[in-house]
Amino acid sequence: MATVEQIAHIGIAVRELESALVMYRDRLGLSHVETKDVPERGLRVAFLQAGEALIELLAPLHEDSEISRFLDKRGEGIHHLCFQVNDIHEKLQELEDDGVRLINREPAIGAEGCPVAFLHPKSCNGVLVELLENAPIDP
Ligand code: CO
Repeated sequence: MATVEQIAHIGIAVRELESALVMYRDRLGLSHVETKDVPERGLRVAFLQAGEALIELLAPLHEDSEISRFLDKRGEGIHHLCFQVNDIHEKLQELEDDGVRLINREPAIGAEGCPVAFLHPKSCNGVLVELLENAPIDP
């Protein structure tokens, strides 16, 4: 059975990245790891280190993005929880065999450059759960 190793990051939806960084980086003092654009998902993402885990601030790159729709519907707040697993393919297969609703049956490459896949909140007590395997990507 594949195992969950730790919380990799917590994703927080924010309307505007710079003012969110004033809070999380400057006031809370978390160190800023990097900011990157993920145009295919309409996202600008900033990672901050919080011990072993990261905080992932998710801001919209444009108004027609998935995160814009989330912000319009729910406002700013926790967007998803990401668990690091030792084998993402095995874990997805186990979950699917158990009848868990998967958003992604096959991992995609996430903002950290690792394979990731999302589980449906309906199967996770209302939480959007992301799985991440901290593995180098096959070329
Ligand atoms: Co994430």
